[in-house]
Amino acid sequence: MEKYVIQGGNPLHGEVEISGAKNAAVAIIPAAIMVKGVCRLENLPAISDTDTLLHILSYMGAKVTMINRSTVELDCTHVNMDALPERMWDLTRRIRASYYLIGAMLGRFGQACSTMPGGCNFGDRPIDQHIKGLTALGATVDVSGGFIRASAKEGRLKGAPVYFDKVSVGATINIMIAAATADGMTVIGNVAREPHIVDLANFLNSMGADVRGAGTDSIKIRGVKHLHGGTYTLIPDQIEAGTYMAAVAAAGGSVRLSNVIPKHLECISSKLREMNVQIEEGDDHVIVRRDGPLHHTNIKTKPYPGFPTDMQPQMTAVLCCAPGRSVVTEAVWNGSRFKYVGELKKMGAHIEVEDQSAFLEGVDRLTGSVVRACDLRAGAAMVIAGLAADGVTKIEDINYIERGYQNLVGKFRALGADIRCVDEPEEEDDLLPEDLNAG
Ligand code: EPZ
Repeated sequence: MEKYVIQGGNPLHGEVEISGAKNAAVAIIPAAIMVKGVCRLENLPAISDTDTLLHILSYMGAKVTMINRSTVELDCTHVNMDALPERMWDLTRRIRASYYLIGAMLGRFGQACSTMPGGCNFGDRPIDQHIKGLTALGATVDVSGGFIRASAKEGRLKGAPVYFDKVSVGATINIMIAAATADGMTVIGNVAREPHIVDLANFLNSMGADVRGAGTDSIKIRGVKHLHGGTYTLIPDQIEAGTYMAAVAAAGGSVRLSNVIPKHLECISSKLREMNVQIEEGDDHVIVRRDGPLHHTNIKTKPYPGFPTDMQPQMTAVLCCAPGRSVVTEAVWNGSRFKYVGELKKMGAHIEVEDQSAFLEGVDRLTGSVVRACDLRAGAAMVIAGLAADGVTKIEDINYIERGYQNLVGKFRALGADIRCVDEPEEEDDLLPEDLNAG
């Protein structure tokens, strides 16, 4: 089983280039099903979630041509609605973003079928807002036996007003995709405003759609007859950038992050500044430096432009080493997004979780231990903790991390971290250094 092995304690120095945004990529790849023609996507992250989606599209009849590591050409002209072979189900069950196939297939064919989506396990992950939106556009949606089946009346969706009861990134994206070629105007209220929502709108518009207002809390979509091919460059990943910023905060040092949009990082930067981390912003880069002691603070997650829930575990890992009391409150997902706290405790962290909040008492140093990645961002938090800890940390279940971070080991090694990916049999403890069993 592959694991990450980290010898902690090295400060980070140098430059890291941030990859394309995972959560934009996993929306834009399914949206390409709507396009009859060649869609060239640039700045695509090389991660397992995008690989999975590209496989799904190719099973459906798309021509997928990798031009280089971060550029792909997708030709969905011959995608076939009947081509949903059983071998695809395992893939669609693996990732959350497979529910965007429903919006895209409904938009293109007037009918859709997929498995219920997978993704990180934060407990209950309802899709009622997706169903509400698709139903408003005239679809009949049936969720049963682990499948979602939907069909549009008379084979075509109709634009309509949709108002979400809860701000949902996924539901906003799904309805934007489905409405792009619906008849007439769709107005979606109480929508998510994350950078990848704006990126999806820009992608759809560059393929001939008419989407306005993305980035505000209401989006207007005038349906067009069809989308045409074109070239689109994805935005950089806000959360990957935030993860490297948090790693510098925890391990110390000075790192320049290139290929970022500093505006998207504002809420992360301002929290880190409160914690005594220096951030300098350029046009498309930030420099992060930490040479003094960390200061404790409180964090509460919120939909964009609030503090991102996808940075909550990484910042908790940093705050473990900030002397004093910090409180981290999760207000987007329920308390199950704190499952990783038990892993940090193995490393000597003082944290207690009550309802939606984690209460931390900072310690001088964490101690290396054997921990697991409970989910994608929880795994990133373990890497950060391991980089800052005394001794050796081994992280298991790294497949979660590789779903969303391109070349994490290579990027951290280039910054001076002592991190390796090793393939070890599960039972092998004799290789463990003594301090690994501590904490
Ligand atoms: C997206 O998930 C991201 N995933 C998540 O990032 C991220 O944590 C989340 O948005 C919030 O920012 C992808 O983009 C693939 P939501 P999504 O719908 O769309 C409730 C990562 O680490 N809700 O915005 O599934 C829901 O229970 C991943 O990269 C409903 O009640 O999240 C939650 O409390 C993990 N009904 C809240 O809304 C619905 O129909 C926000 O969920 C849908 C959601």
